[in-house]
Amino acid sequence: MEDIVNVRPRIHVFVCVNNRCGIAGNIKPSCGPTITPEMVKEVKLWLRMRGLTSVVYCTLVKCLGFCSTDGGVMCVYPQGRFVKGLLTVEDIKKVIGEEMSRVGID
Ligand code: FES
Repeated sequence: MEDIVNVRPRIHVFVCVNNRCGIAGNIKPSCGPTITPEMVKEVKLWLRMRGLTSVVYCTLVKCLGFCSTDGGVMCVYPQGRFVKGLLTVEDIKKVIGEEMSRVGID
């Protein structure tokens, strides 16, 4: 085991894309298909176009434990902020933008 050095994102966001819609008998809500992997790719491209990939990490995940019918869920670290009710790419970007402002990233 070895540490990966010189990796210091200022913000790391995790966006849930878990989709339980195709699971027989499932009654639990999920972030997908409202939030999709393609939407997270779009957010990553937005960060790349702004030259922020080394300071803002965006990771697709499957279930953050706050599943709801209101929309998708994401969390932001190191702030430890959880957000639910995401419906669009713009919602995800808005949360990231708020956190960038909070830590002084333009
Ligand atoms: S399915 Fe997204 S938080 Fe559980």
